[in-house]
Amino acid sequence: MRAALFDRYGASSEVLRIENVETPEPGPGEVRVKIEYSGVNPTDWKSRRGSTPRPIDGFQIPHHDGAGVVDAVGEGVDPGRIGQRVWTVLAAAGRRWGTAAQWSVVPADRAVPLPDGISAELGASLGVPAVTAHRCLFADGPVEGKSILVAGGAGAVGHFAIELATFFGAQVATTVSGAEKAELARKAGAGLVVNYRDPSAAEQISSFGPIDRVIEVALGANLSLDLAVLKPGGEIVTYAAEPDDPALSVRACMNANVILRFVLLYGVPADAIQRATRDITTALTARALTELPVHKFGLDDVAAAQDACEAGAVGKVLVSPA
Ligand SMILES: NC(=O)c1ccc[n+]([C@@H]2O[C@H](COP(=O)([O-])OP(=O)(O)OC[C@H]3O[C@@H](n4cnc5c(N)ncnc54)[C@H](OP(=O)(O)O)[C@@H]3O)[C@@H](O)[C@H]2O)c1
Repeated sequence: MRAALFDRYGASSEVLRIENVETPEPGPGEVRVKIEYSGVNPTDWKSRRGSTPRPIDGFQIPHHDGAGVVDAVGEGVDPGRIGQRVWTVLAAAGRRWGTAAQWSVVPADRAVPLPDGISAELGASLGVPAVTAHRCLFADGPVEGKSILVAGGAGAVGHFAIELATFFGAQVATTVSGAEKAELARKAGAGLVVNYRDPSAAEQISSFGPIDRVIEVALGANLSLDLAVLKPGGEIVTYAAEPDDPALSVRACMNANVILRFVLLYGVPADAIQRATRDITTALTARALTELPVHKFGLDDVAAAQDACEAGAVGKVLVSPA
């Protein structure tokens, strides 16, 4: 099969190449997926560049996320799954068979059935962003009836955080940095959209009501804002590291009795991932999750695709291996 791969860390144009490799066979408990779209996430270029290195087993086909069709199953997997449309979760975590190839092989529970009528583009956008958003939203309990602030609501994680929180009964306020992103966040269902650069951002969010939980993409930049709008004892759940670690204002955090939580998808317990995929399936079936704008690249342009993600493309970058 044709696959994008790398065998050392470095710049995209230096280490990513396209090769023919043997098409993988699914082992016991695995399924093989014929990939229609491979979804790119920041973790993919960070791993490839070596800034958050992950071990390479000979070679690494990048990208966790993808959508396609199961075309072979390993021992112990229901053969009835052949022909099923699926989206993938953490396909390249500890495995060489990422989705930037014509086929990927994943444990059966990491190929999640895609409900009828849901596009492959949306399917390939879900894995890292929607599962991370779900974990951030639910690790500290249900969101129903709560007020949630999603920082960066036009980002991939932010987008699915708004949609999942809204679907499961929360009111959502969000922050963005400009008009195009504000429009995306409104379309996702945010009840209040605020420009986080506006000096009156805290005031505007407070008018929405006290916030129970913040889903945070930039803790250092936003901690003062978060503490200004959070209920006493509320949670700030952070899923992204900024280039420089923040200096934590311990007194301000104590005054707010705030609970700080950090989420890294690679270490989320298996049962929480299962719960996320179940809830995401429920939301997909109800048509409550939507596509962000997509930017499509061919497999030969996988380096450009990763660079576009690194440059902060608004929406999702997808690679088509066909
Ligand atoms: N912990 C995990 O397991 C996990 C999982 C997924 C992603 N991540 C990390 O999370 C980050 C975002 O991922 P993504 O896929 O959602 O990226 P993305 O689609 O590029 O979105 C990032 C968003 O963050 C916003 N942002 C940046 N600084 C902000 C600030 N100070 N206040 C509010 N919003 C701000 C950006 O908006 P503006 O440009 O308008 O500021 C942008 O919309 C990446 O660093 C990624 O590596 C971590």
